[in-house]
Amino acid sequence: MTQDEMKKAAAEAAIEYVQPGMIIGIGTGSTANHFIDALARIKGRIEGTVASSEASAKRLRDHGIPVLDLNSAGQLSLYVDGADEATRHLHLIKGGGGALTREKIVAAASEKFVCIADDSKLVDLLGAFPLPVEVIPMARSYVARELVKHGGRPQLREGFTTDNGNLILDVHNLQIMDPVALETELNQIAGVVTVGIFARRPADVLILGGKDGVRTLK
Ligand code: A5P
Repeated sequence: MTQDEMKKAAAEAAIEYVQPGMIIGIGTGSTANHFIDALARIKGRIEGTVASSEASAKRLRDHGIPVLDLNSAGQLSLYVDGADEATRHLHLIKGGGGALTREKIVAAASEKFVCIADDSKLVDLLGAFPLPVEVIPMARSYVARELVKHGGRPQLREGFTTDNGNLILDVHNLQIMDPVALETELNQIAGVVTVGIFARRPADVLILGGKDGVRTLK
């Protein structure tokens, strides 16, 4: 089984969380894309979706799946998205695709967050994957200096602008012992829009695709 097949298996397994009439939050990335493709097969049963990126919105619309504005959708029952790293506590690093701010908003507005990934994403300690931090452009250097004080080595994601018109600093060298505390601390730096640690609002369910099939952590 390839890594992509494992992602697909996890995405297909998440379909069981979809109930008739739901408005579903949709993540971003290759695993979320598999979920969108699986959702297309049952699109008649759901009311619609809220997308966490322009890329996902386009893929949903191409399948003829309605994409709603979060402000009119209200509270969502379900959010399905991938991750760059996940722990057994269901704390995540996200933002490898740069969509972390909208992802965090949709996750916050959802009752249940089902995270889908291949099992290479499961780690004991977050931080080997460089932590994405979305920053307001004028604050880039200041935020980078503050991140260095926290022991990180921030690197500007070259040639990349987020859907919100901001920049991403990818922070290397972090060993994230206390994800909730670090998320809270880095959120306080002026100019930081969103930190890619999802621990204050972790996933509720983690579906991992592996060589021997799919397993679920709750
Ligand atoms: C997007 O910004 C990220 O949070 C994605 O969820 C993450 O990068 C996972 O991507 P893949 O599903 O492509 O591995």
